[in-house]
Amino acid sequence: MTKKIIRVLGIESSCDETSVSVVEKTGEKIKVLSNIVKSQLDVHKDYGGVVPELAARAHSDVIHKLIKMALDQADITFRSIHAIASTAGPGLLGGLLVGVVAGKTLASSLNKPFIAVNHLEGHALSIKLEQKIEFPYLLLLVSGGHTEFTIIKKFNRYKRIGTTIDDALGEAFDKTARLLKMEYPGGPEIEKYAKYGDENKYKLPLPLINEKNCHFSFAGLKSAVADVVAKNKSTEKFKKDMSASFQKTINKILSTKAQYAIEHFQRINKSKKTTKIVVAGGVAANKSLRVALTELESTHQCKFLFPSIKYCTDNGAMIALAGIERFERNMFNKLDFKPKPRWPLDKDALFMKGKRIVGE
Ligand code: KG4
Ligand code: ZN
Repeated sequence: MTKKIIRVLGIESSCDETSVSVVEKTGEKIKVLSNIVKSQLDVHKDYGGVVPELAARAHSDVIHKLIKMALDQADITFRSIHAIASTAGPGLLGGLLVGVVAGKTLASSLNKPFIAVNHLEGHALSIKLEQKIEFPYLLLLVSGGHTEFTIIKKFNRYKRIGTTIDDALGEAFDKTARLLKMEYPGGPEIEKYAKYGDENKYKLPLPLINEKNCHFSFAGLKSAVADVVAKNKSTEKFKKDMSASFQKTINKILSTKAQYAIEHFQRINKSKKTTKIVVAGGVAANKSLRVALTELESTHQCKFLFPSIKYCTDNGAMIALAGIERFERNMFNKLDFKPKPRWPLDKDALFMKGKRIVGE
């Protein structure tokens, strides 16, 4: 019997990467046929952060080229595609509109299904692009826009157990780097400087560390860094010591909260199996964070899984993969589907802003 083949074209444009990919599923085997990513770093560099209007324009400037490149690299034509999947939220509205309109237009003119994908579902499933994993597992998503622990119970069943009440972790890296007059994005810069610094030089606060839950707060940390910066000369040595101290603080916060998340997961799953934790998002590239988290494997029955960097950061492949999962379940969307800038994966998750939980 010949195995069923499904091919989906995935479009990602929710933040500052435009990406188009073709992913193929044959039986149980997943293959990324192409994954074209165009970063907008140059567009936003001088502003120290992503400028929404410029991001939308930059997506719209290149999306058509990237679609063609993704098909060419996959060595297929539109005819062999079964559906078009676009990130429809959460993210910056202008960017989402570009990807969603491109996806809908293709779907409509090719007479193929359109699938609106939640960006976070893409991250949650991205590990499956490279390896098999059994449900349930834990996701730790740490990017410029998100910081959360979510239990991936099974496909389309997600339970968020922790999130940030203010800044995302990537944002904390970027803001600290800006205070230290480093380039954007700050994460890789801080990591570079930290290698040569004294991590015990500056003592920074560990917000929410004593609260036995999986929530984060990073805004206070930024203010503490600002205070130290104001009292010191911005020498190379200072930058190195500050970066190392900042990174050590982050590692301590993340590994403490990861322990709570693992305990929470094991409590509700009552399974004796090793807990798998997938770490995704741009900050997952940080090597010292990887080491700090992986150390928990010796004290907790857990295993950390890190997708390749190209699938950790925003990419069309994870959107195409989520599209395949939806295609298999006939979960299609109408062409009047509206992008959702705010779209939690767990619809029961409460909106956290400061310590007040909105909606309770
Ligand atoms: O997932 P991503 O590429 O884009 C979104 O935010 O969606 O994540 C970007 C974030 C930035 O804040 C960047 O500073 C951070 O990931 N980042 C890092 C590292 N590489 C990227 N943070 C810490 N260490 C790194 N090596
Ligand atoms: Zn992302």
